[in-house]
Amino acid sequence: MATVLLTGGAGYIGSHTLVEMINAGYDCVVLDNFSNSSPESLKRVAQICGKEFPWYTCDIRDEETMDQIFCNHEIDAVIHFAGLKAVGESVEKPELYFDNNVNGTNVLLKVMQKHNCKKFVFSSSATVYGEPERLPLDETCRLHTTNPYGETKLQIENNLKTVYQKDNDWKVVILRYFNPVGAHESGLIGESPNGIPNNLTPYISQVAQGLLPYLRVFGNDYPTPDGTGIRDYIHVVDLAKGHLCALEKTADTGLFIYNLGTGTGYSVFDVLHAYEKACGKVIPYKILPRRAGDIAEMYASCKKANEELGWYAKLTLDDMCKDLFNWQSKNPYGYGEEK
Ligand code: NAD
Ligand code: UFG
Repeated sequence: MATVLLTGGAGYIGSHTLVEMINAGYDCVVLDNFSNSSPESLKRVAQICGKEFPWYTCDIRDEETMDQIFCNHEIDAVIHFAGLKAVGESVEKPELYFDNNVNGTNVLLKVMQKHNCKKFVFSSSATVYGEPERLPLDETCRLHTTNPYGETKLQIENNLKTVYQKDNDWKVVILRYFNPVGAHESGLIGESPNGIPNNLTPYISQVAQGLLPYLRVFGNDYPTPDGTGIRDYIHVVDLAKGHLCALEKTADTGLFIYNLGTGTGYSVFDVLHAYEKACGKVIPYKILPRRAGDIAEMYASCKKANEELGWYAKLTLDDMCKDLFNWQSKNPYGYGEEK
């Protein structure tokens, strides 16, 4: 079985993908600088899978250490999760985001080229569509970014196109994730945000846990059925499985782009009520003004991934909430300590 390097493998999506990969029989190597994660997630993955795997504390911008990792292991393919992802922080620190995400990816691609490793799966984001041109969003929709984080994802996509144009031996799969939520059903791994969460579902789960007083609903005056924003939430385990299909696709030379979502949009209130059902509690909320930069509605067309990868999201919003509640209940402070 092939050896696959997961950059950012200790993070939320990386750790769930690692479980699916190890269970599918891949030999996995992880690197992470732990800027937004902890080695604890890797210990938990080993516990779930009953198998140890090599991992390195390494920054993707550190060419020398990356080179050493490629010398230590015969790596056939890379799944590249490593990156900074906080939209608000990217507005405050755009240079950091370009250096970490864009420059970091360039260093990784250079080391891969040197070691003749040309299979690459990249974590892009639905954020590259910006304000949707039409719904559902398909891979041919106009690309338009509205913040530095989104711009880094678009620049990396464009750089990958250039890499492939220069050398047609590359096999590149770009995955545009919609809104990953939920946790592994074991409750051992999940999302562990630093400080107050930015995203909807970790915020809701912390309110239900009693760690935050109420959900702030950012706007109830959008042109949507209940006035709140609509997104395409996808269970992180379905998303993780999409990476196995993407990896199989790297048998073909070419550059391929796929949306990974469910194709269904849910409003803030839909998610709130589903979580209330999962945890058996009423969750307090207050309506606040719209959050700057938010759009009303987005959801994916996943037809291309269905047809070309044979991948389908199977888990429901109720599954997402049930598994998030299980993770939150067992790990009220994520991988960290009570603050
Ligand atoms: P995460 O922060 O949990 O995981 C990213 C991991 O990369 C972390 O473990 C972090 O420590 C590591 N990392 C960051 N910079 C690094 C560097 N320079 N060198 C080495 N490691 C580094 O985030 P996630 O939710 O698991 O996201 C994974 C990828 O998917 C990211 O690229 C993110 O932009 C993308 N994405 C995430 C979402 C989402 O909503 N979670 C949506 C679309 C795309
Ligand atoms: N929301 C609230 N209250 C909160 C948090 C969010 O009402 O406390 C609302 C937002 O207004 C939005 C919806 O819940 O309508 C979802 O918001 P999230 O912050 O969970 O997700 P976004 O769609 O805004 O952003 C996410 C990632 C981005 C990524 C984008 C597209 O955080 O990095 O999806 O993939 F770019």
